[in-house]
Formats: sequence, structure tokens, C-alpha cells
Amino acid sequence: MQPEAAFFSIHFGRDSYDNFHSLILCEKTMVPINLSGKVALIFGVGDNESFAWFIAKTLQAAGARIALAVHPRVHGIVESILTRDLDAESRKLPHGASGELKPELVLPCDARYDTMADVDEETKNDRRYKKFEFYAIKEVVEAVGKHFGGIDILIHSIAFSREISKRAIETSRSAYMEAIGISAYSLTSMVRAAEPFMEGRTGGASVVGLTYLGGSRVVPYYGGGMSTAKAALQIDCGQLAHNVGAKNIRVNLISAGPYASRAARSIRPDFDKSITYAAERSPLPRGIEPQEVADACLFLCSPLASAISGHTLFVDCGYNIMGV
Ligand SMILES: NC(=O)c1ccc[n+]([C@@H]2O[C@H](COP(=O)([O-])OP(=O)(O)OC[C@H]3O[C@@H](n4cnc5c(N)ncnc54)[C@H](O)[C@@H]3O)[C@@H](O)[C@H]2O)c1
Repeated sequence: MQPEAAFFSIHFGRDSYDNFHSLILCEKTMVPINLSGKVALIFGVGDNESFAWFIAKTLQAAGARIALAVHPRVHGIVESILTRDLDAESRKLPHGASGELKPELVLPCDARYDTMADVDEETKNDRRYKKFEFYAIKEVVEAVGKHFGGIDILIHSIAFSREISKRAIETSRSAYMEAIGISAYSLTSMVRAAEPFMEGRTGGASVVGLTYLGGSRVVPYYGGGMSTAKAALQIDCGQLAHNVGAKNIRVNLISAGPYASRAARSIRPDFDKSITYAAERSPLPRGIEPQEVADACLFLCSPLASAISGHTLFVDCGYNIMGV
């Protein structure tokens, strides 16, 4: 990581901060976002299309040291995307920063489990889990906190419902509870585990989660308990912000517009229709880019957002303001 690559101009247009050399020339008029030495623990990289992938690259481009916590079933896939030539382009850091995504740790984590004591026998004996010593939230957060001597940034970018394609009225109790557990309660569990490692950090610490408009408005295809999980996540964000604010830990959410990630494509096969629908009705008449979510996340993790907590920031081309 080049230290100079850690500076971003936020008051110039997007094009102007693509070239690092031009930044040096206008350094005096630049607002820096410098996360050098900060430690970011990111949950939710499933592949190189995940929001979390773009967030990891962007935080690293700003100087942060990266630890990924990925679902045990995709651990091998993520390891391979991080190394194979085929995916080299997708590892490149954004904004003209030199180098590529290089997390210092890639740990397995199944957000169904708060501690290893909660893991059921079937999972313990599953060959995809058996090879790992631990994969519950508490043990993973503690391993990262001890390895780096603290955590400055925690990203929650995970969601799951096994009945995601069912309408709300058809959703079973067990799938509904599971969706809330994995997609919402896990944030509480992570913040609880991370609190001792995030308190007392220079400049404060920041937690950012991902939500969707379907948590506060009716999006008919957003069933399977997922709309309820996002509604829970949103009020939990406020509760947690209040719970840990005295320790200078901020908790915020980004409400992203529709984007065709793996999770989104599982909601409905013709997910592109949702993107087009929103794009045609948004004040900015287009779909979002995952990099735009990552950039907003960088802002929320930076000192520029030092008084923002308990907030949901929409990164959706303005779609949420529309009445028709
Ligand atoms: N793509 C969209 O349109 C959109 C819009 C708004 C919000 N979001 C939110 O963004 C976040 C990231 O989703 P994405 O679109 O990048 O899709 P994604 O499929 O790339 O990411 C979802 C991640 O959740 C992980 N996950 C699922 N169950 C897990 C478990 N039990 N333990 C640990 N990890 C688990 C998956 O492994 C995957 O990495 C989610 O919270 C999603 O709801 C997505």
C-alpha cells in the first residue's frame, strides 16, 4: 500500500480523483480521507460482485488493513478469487490507488452462531465446516481483534432467507426466524463481540450495515422474512448506536438501490426488471454501481462522518423519495 494512495479528494468530481498525481499537485485544496493503520473487519464477501468486495477494496485503497469473515461454504471460493489470474482485474483497488485487494486475514464465519458453543452436531460434522477450528461470530471477532490489537471498522453485509422467493404470506415460521437471525440479529451479536476491541480507538470506531428500502416500504417480491429482517436491522441500528455511542463507536446503515449481486439474483430470476423499474423512476434515472455503495461506506467510516450515528444513508439514485 502506497501511503500517498490513501488520500481522496471529496470536493472534486469523481473523475478528478482518479489520478493520484493530480491530487499531489492540488494537495492543499484536498480533503483527505486517510484510514492508514485502521483495521477493518468485513463480513459478507461471497464473490467479487458482492457489495462487501467493493467495500473491502475501497477501505484498503484509503489505507485500511483488511480482515474478511466469509461464510465457511464460500471460504475456498473467496481464497481463489483473491489469488487466481482470472480475477486479477476485479482485485484492483479503485480511485487510482496502487495494488490489489490483499486481506491480511480471511476467516470463516457462519452468522447463525454467536459462539462455538451454539453450533449443532450436524454442522460440526459437515465436511465444509469440520476443517475449521472456529467459525462463530464471537470467536472470529476475537481472533481479528487480538491479531490486530483492535478494530476500527466493522462492516455487516450479509443477508439470507431460504424462502426468499416466497411472498410474505407464504413464509414459514422457521424460515422467517432464520432470516431475522442471520440478516438482522447477527449485527447485534457482532457489535457485542467487537465492542471491547472498538472502544477507545483514536478518532472513534465505525460500524456500517447494508439494508434495503423493502425494510420500510412494501416491495412485494421481498418476502421470505427478508423485509422483516431489514426492518429489524434498521431499528437495531438505532438501538446499537445508542448502546455503544458513549464509547465513540458509531453505527450506521446504507440502504442500497437494487443491484444484481448473487443474493439479489436469488430473490427473483428476472431481477434486472427491478433495477430497470427503479432506474426509470429515480431522480437520477439510472441504476446504482456497487462502487457508489463502497464510496458512501468509506465516508461513513471516515472522520468526515464523526457526528453521524444511527443513520440510514440511501445510496439509491434518490428512488426512496418518490411517491409514484
Ligand atoms: N443487491 C441488492 O440489490 C441489495 C440492495 C440493498 C441491500 N442489499 C444488502 O447488501 C448486503 C450484501 O448483499 P449483496 O447484494 O452484496 O449480495 P451477496 O450475495 O454478494 O452477499 C450476501 C452475503 O451474505 C452471506 N451470508 C449469507 N448467509 C450467511 C451466514 N449464515 N453467515 C455468514 N454470511 C452469510 C453470503 O455468503 C454473501 O457473502 C445484504 O445485506 C443485502 O441484503 C443488497
